[in-house]
Amino acid sequence: MGNEKAEPKAKGPRVLVTGASGNVGAPLVAHLVQGGASVRVASREGTRAPPGTTAVRFDFEDPSTHAPALAGVEKVFLLRPPAVTDVNRHLLPVVRAAKDAGVRHVVFLSLLGVEKNPVVPHAKVERFILEAGVPHTFLRPGFFMQNLSTTHREDIREHGELFVPAGSGRTSFIDTRDIAAVGARTLLEEGHEGKAYDLTGSEALTYAEVAALFTEVLGRPIRYPAPGALRFAARWYGRNVPASYIAVMTGIYTVCRLGLAGTVTPDTEALLGRAPISMRQFIQDHKSCWL
Ligand SMILES: NC(=O)c1ccc[n+]([C@@H]2O[C@H](COP(=O)([O-])OP(=O)(O)OC[C@H]3O[C@@H](n4cnc5c(N)ncnc54)[C@H](OP(=O)(O)O)[C@@H]3O)[C@@H](O)[C@H]2O)c1
Repeated sequence: MGNEKAEPKAKGPRVLVTGASGNVGAPLVAHLVQGGASVRVASREGTRAPPGTTAVRFDFEDPSTHAPALAGVEKVFLLRPPAVTDVNRHLLPVVRAAKDAGVRHVVFLSLLGVEKNPVVPHAKVERFILEAGVPHTFLRPGFFMQNLSTTHREDIREHGELFVPAGSGRTSFIDTRDIAAVGARTLLEEGHEGKAYDLTGSEALTYAEVAALFTEVLGRPIRYPAPGALRFAARWYGRNVPASYIAVMTGIYTVCRLGLAGTVTPDTEALLGRAPISMRQFIQDHKSCWL
């Protein structure tokens, strides 16, 4: 368990990791500890800290937690939690507070294609970081493989199907463990300031192809019924989630259906010096979650 007062001595930089329990944050923390950083793990409850890290209470929606969490920190891994929708109110003040605290590098988890889509909240955060003049790196990943082991787990496990309205569009899925590995490099090394990295896997797959891989690896049939947006929304309305969440998901899969989610970029492989984790490997590694 971490301790808010006694920060472990480390040879690397002092880094505050927001979203530290999340898909990207959790493996990022492990990489940073391994790389010798002094890691401050931010969470709303404020006590959870993996070995070798320090816990700190931090809530985007509670400004009184910002300055204490940032005090003495050199670098910040910043993300916008999906539930934090008002970035003007809850995210931009954190960038300002980081600047005031003398943070010398912010690595922001953004979104692939953000530069062509000024209305997404990530675009607003990128613009604000640029205008604030805070040294930064933007990580712009494509669609996470981990959506299949979290959001869509129940459909795969209980119904034996991938139920998303993506038609025959392709997606250049990326494993969040690769995003975390890239994030750790940008935080542990110098020379990534002012850069934006477009992070994808090394292939773009249709959901029919993903379903075939699931079938092969799990050893039982997983279908892709290619539902339309209305059938998809109807299933999710029965699950007691906010309508706005369903609308966002439908929008994301419509982008894929239109053939706009299949861009494969070389950045992940170039930064990691190895091929990105494949979909087959991802399914193999998380097999137990769908059984
Ligand atoms: N899913 C995709 O395919 C995809 C693709 C590209 C980009 N992205 C972007 O990636 C980001 C999500 O990353 P992720 O999947 O790693 O996150 P995640 O697994 O959804 O985890 C969210 C994290 O945010 C923290 N959190 C939630 N509310 C908070 C609050 N009010 N204050 C402080 N912390 C809070 C949670 O920590 P505690 O509960 O411990 O406080 C948790 O660690 C989003 O910005 C999303 O747009 C996602």
